[in-house]
Amino acid sequence: MRIEKARLIKPNYSDKISAFYWSEDALYILDQRKLPEREIYFKANTLTKVFRSIKDMLVRGAPAIGIVSAIGVYIALKELLKKKLQPISKAKLDKYFTEVINKLASSRPTAVNLFWALSRMQKIYEKFTSSLETETIDEKTLQVLLGKLKAEALEIWQEDILANLRMGELGAPLLPEGGILTHCNTGALATGGYGTALGVIRRALETGKKIEVWIDETRPYLQGARLTAWELSKLKIPYRIITDNSAGFLMQKGLIQAIVVGADRIAQNGDTANKIGTYSLAILANFHKIPFYVCAPSSTFDLSTTSGEEIPVEERSEKEVLYCWGKRIAPTKACALNFSFDITPASLISAFITERGIIYPPFRENIKKVLECEI
Ligand code: MRU
Repeated sequence: MRIEKARLIKPNYSDKISAFYWSEDALYILDQRKLPEREIYFKANTLTKVFRSIKDMLVRGAPAIGIVSAIGVYIALKELLKKKLQPISKAKLDKYFTEVINKLASSRPTAVNLFWALSRMQKIYEKFTSSLETETIDEKTLQVLLGKLKAEALEIWQEDILANLRMGELGAPLLPEGGILTHCNTGALATGGYGTALGVIRRALETGKKIEVWIDETRPYLQGARLTAWELSKLKIPYRIITDNSAGFLMQKGLIQAIVVGADRIAQNGDTANKIGTYSLAILANFHKIPFYVCAPSSTFDLSTTSGEEIPVEERSEKEVLYCWGKRIAPTKACALNFSFDITPASLISAFITERGIIYPPFRENIKKVLECEI
């Protein structure tokens, strides 16, 4: 698909890799299900298409989901404008807007960045509509609202990239030289650009650290073997993929000096939801006395949840486990259980790398302190 790059809406910093492009009329989403074999863009120009792109994991990764959902709100309002239903009553517009937010919010349950971004878009909508003096909204007024929603979505994207670059700066000095293991995909594909945990590794390499990158393949969706590997190949960074069950043996052999992962939601006390397998890695790291870092922007912290027990964990189709590339790999009657995330207790985490600073234990106190500081 040809994307006319001249007319793109984009933040000031562009990474070499982008999970999506945004033009006036649509989001062009790189279909991550097809990587690394094919680079195919899906044109999402309706609310339903944006919703399906998130739900079916064409786009994934907590920050990327947040940004795409914010742009999805803009696209949904644009859709309304194209239908030429204006003038429209404020009550009808409120109802439509609530449906848009609810639909996008129902796409995936664990990554809190989704709800955070939608709530920012909702605030813009409410501020604008509550200032209106009439009960009907004409085309011109809807255009002004669209302009404000577009600016906010772009700001969310821009902030995420800046946060990633900052986390790279702050996190890189923490990494020792030697083997660094990462899990899932936390790079440009999972964010607005540059990446969280992978951004820290990128930055450490850019500053000349001698690092050997180890990637967990990350069953069953293979975010590590397909996506992180694809990104690092594009960036010409050497790496080696290991099966998820190899990590312990590599640690025992002294091949891993630190682990750095991303997060989908971090509770008030530091308990962290991240891709399934993260908890096992944290236990192994603890046993082998290896630092275990979680890198995430402040939009991934959910201070309304007191502990990990309150975080909803997505359970996906058992087909993702029973099939590989459309081919069944288990006996016909076999069943599977497919939790997409797990919860790592805060006690197993050495520190959080955020754009506002590095957070060390005691987390309950320090998370609040660091997140509330001015930057
Ligand atoms: O199910 P996914 O692929 O959306 O899960 C992604 C992860 O768990 C990432 O590690 C997490 O979102 C951090 S991304 C910067």
